[in-house]
Amino acid sequence: GITHTILGLESSCDDTAAAVVRQSEGEVPEILSSVVFGQTELHAEFGGVVPEIAARAHAEKIDICVKQALEQANLTLADIDALAVTAGPGLIGGVLSGVMCAKGLAAGSGKPLIGVNHLAGHALTPRLTDGIAFPYLMLLVSGGHCQFLLVKGPEDFTRLGGTIDDAPGEAFDKTARLLGLPQPGGPAVQAEAEKGDPKRFRFPRPLLDRPGCDMSFSGLKTALLRARDQVVAEKGGLTTRDRADLAAGFQAAVRDVLVEKTRRALALYLAENPAQPVLAVAGGVAANTAIRAGLETASDEMKVSFTAPPLALCTDNAAMIAYAGLERFRLGHCDDMTLVARPRWPL
Ligand code: KG4
Ligand code: ZN
Repeated sequence: GITHTILGLESSCDDTAAAVVRQSEGEVPEILSSVVFGQTELHAEFGGVVPEIAARAHAEKIDICVKQALEQANLTLADIDALAVTAGPGLIGGVLSGVMCAKGLAAGSGKPLIGVNHLAGHALTPRLTDGIAFPYLMLLVSGGHCQFLLVKGPEDFTRLGGTIDDAPGEAFDKTARLLGLPQPGGPAVQAEAEKGDPKRFRFPRPLLDRPGCDMSFSGLKTALLRARDQVVAEKGGLTTRDRADLAAGFQAAVRDVLVEKTRRALALYLAENPAQPVLAVAGGVAANTAIRAGLETASDEMKVSFTAPPLALCTDNAAMIAYAGLERFRLGHCDDMTLVARPRWPL
């Protein structure tokens, strides 16, 4: 059959990444290489991603990233069928670095250029890792996003609901800052939560009393801030135990909201797609073991099969961009030099 080999570039947030993915018709896709340069140390002292610093680091690293991805795949640009690049949504300076680099490579090599929506990259990851068929229900839950998507095709996504304010990853990062834990907050808060008592602090479960699958996480952040300040006011500081209990209470609240809203999204989804009972998750927060376990239990109870990509493919990477590009390429959908970088780009 026909084989497609795609080079993917990702630079929309704080990871500079390049990867090569190959798929032969009728076979499972193969990740030939996946290189990720994180920027965690660069932003550490600021307590969050600084867009200007991120953009400069992407511009510096993207070429070497591409070079390494090709080397690790044992290929040259001549072996690549097309270049896929995240064209948004994201921090515009970073997205521009990727798009400019991809345009340069496309111009120099004469290869087709494919602009990929970062969210589509996450949403199609279960097809890359587990080869699942359309349709499926996707919970995309990351630092910048939180939504339920009915995924019917490589370019066919319907939003069933999502956050009305912050994304859970953002709340994890904020919680880490409030508790004096390092960034990115998700893994640090999870490690603390594993040592804590989730019942000591009872945080709100916003919007659970309302129908539908919209969610809200900003109130949870405020509740955590208040609880922390109260402990600090009483004792003059946080003990190791306080920190662990606050983290555990916070994580349990996020998990409960995500799990309950997932049940509702699944009910909506199953009513229309009873023959294809599949829930997939993606995005950085899907790396959280407590949240994954809660989603898995809910899926089991509703007789739905549950798919979660390996951790390295949950967080930002370029293999998902290469793969999403491959799916578009197979449909003959390419872009040209007029491709623009977009800070906002809803699916
Ligand atoms: O998908 P991603 O790499 O970037 C975005 O597109 O947003 O997600 C990053 C987010 C960060 O907010 C990070 O704190 C969160 O995912 N995250 C986690 C965990 N690992 C990463 N959140 C909770 N638990 C984790 N284990
Ligand atoms: Zn992402």
